[in-house]
Amino acid sequence: MSPQFGPDFQHELAELLAWRRDVRHFRSDPLGEEVVAELLATAQLAPSVGNSQPWRFVRVRSDKLRETLADHADAEIARAGKAMTEDRRRAYSALKLHGMREAPELIAVFCDDTTPIGGRLGAATMPETRAFSVVLAIHTLWLAARAKGLGLGWVSVIEPGHVARLLDVSQDWRLIALLCLGQPLEPDDVPELERRGWQARLDWQSNVSER
Ligand SMILES: Cc1cc2nc3c(=O)[nH]c(=O)nc-3n(C[C@H](O)[C@H](O)[C@H](O)COP(=O)(O)O)c2cc1C
Repeated sequence: MSPQFGPDFQHELAELLAWRRDVRHFRSDPLGEEVVAELLATAQLAPSVGNSQPWRFVRVRSDKLRETLADHADAEIARAGKAMTEDRRRAYSALKLHGMREAPELIAVFCDDTTPIGGRLGAATMPETRAFSVVLAIHTLWLAARAKGLGLGWVSVIEPGHVARLLDVSQDWRLIALLCLGQPLEPDDVPELERRGWQARLDWQSNVSER
């Protein structure tokens, strides 16, 4: 029999969604292997075009690679700052845009753009739906992590081709995200960028129109 999701669960789900944060400040306490395995297994439940499951998770276990990747992100962050107006740059330089050195788990997520799984159903007309599927797997992992009290930070201030080469993955794999995972230093229900005056969340009505 399929489960019934009552009002208490619905309330808790709303709380989970409100408290899911992009986290950049982590405790470095290691995560158990079983926790990581459980989260990755949950991500596997995500919907995907043609059930192609094109997400490829690469756990970065080498300290040297982690440091190289963190140095790369720092360099890209500095480079992006140079293109900003003086005002924005001042606010930007106060932002922390990744926790790659502290987070106990660092995971690169790729999209396999050539997977034959699912017989290419749907992806023939909209190949980008493979990448959309990978994003859904990440979001599934994000929520499952938060439900366990863990924080996830999505790092995109990187050059995807460079990261793919550093990680020595198939040329058919496209980088979608670098994910930092671990205990958040301080859970919060307001996005960090909003707290720091960079960009607030908009009312939902401002993103909805009718025809
Ligand atoms: C595709 C994507 C890329 C992102 N890249 C970064 C990033 O490089 N660094 C960072 O600190 N946050 C990054 N974020 C997090 C956003 O800043 C964050 O989701 C947004 O400010 C809303 O905050 P919240 O996720 O806590 O609700 C990214 C989020 C998404 C969905």
